Amino acid sequence: MSRAKEAAGRHAARFVESGMTVGLGTGSTVFFTLKALAERIREEGLELRGVPTSVDTETKAKDMGIPLVPLDDVTRIDVTIDGADEIDGDFAMIKGGGGALLREKVIASLSEREVIVVHREKVVEELGRGFLLPVEVIPFARPAVIHHLSGLGATPTLRMSTPDQSYCTDNGNEILDCRFEGGIPSAAELDLQLNAIPGVVENGLFVGLANVLVIGDDDGGVEVREKG
Ligand code: 5RP
Repeated sequence: MSRAKEAAGRHAARFVESGMTVGLGTGSTVFFTLKALAERIREEGLELRGVPTSVDTETKAKDMGIPLVPLDDVTRIDVTIDGADEIDGDFAMIKGGGGALLREKVIASLSEREVIVVHREKVVEELGRGFLLPVEVIPFARPAVIHHLSGLGATPTLRMSTPDQSYCTDNGNEILDCRFEGGIPSAAELDLQLNAIPGVVENGLFVGLANVLVIGDDDGGVEVREKG
């Protein structure tokens, strides 16, 4: 598993060229992209401006010596490299396993190119059969949002940090992990329905945002797919 993640994460660092503004995703696969970028900065003199998608990535990138810029200074991102929890044949994804879905979607929306790095087991026929869909909600609105989610056929579970403490995102919100029995046949439709619920800040469906998929295998090989 870790070899596959390393292969995919490291390979994706090749999509970065000197002078680029680069969205830095979140998670254990992108961690290897950060390492590879830090190496290229040290060894090749690669110049980039990184835009982190989470506090966790910001901390890691700073520790590795990757230069960062705040989002205030950015209107366009050349390439973003990010992970996913599931991705289908149309490059629609479930993201947010690491809780960073909101910032990840904001960064993806500004990106010319979105490169996704995954272990092969995350490439699926249909979203939502194997992974719960994270929905970020304002804490005040949680009971109302749960009611509306149930009306859409979801079974939501509040994500917890400890048995007594709900998980808190970088934006001070909570996450409801939603089971959709039988999967998610239309990600685009559900994306719109979820974001129309008052109190929902963002959901983990990413539709029409990814352009390139880098799949890592356990033998250390990679397959690269470009959206047609
Ligand atoms: C965080 C995410 C991550 O990209 C996703 O969870 C994949 O993480 P990993 O590479 O550790 O499997 O969406 O919000």
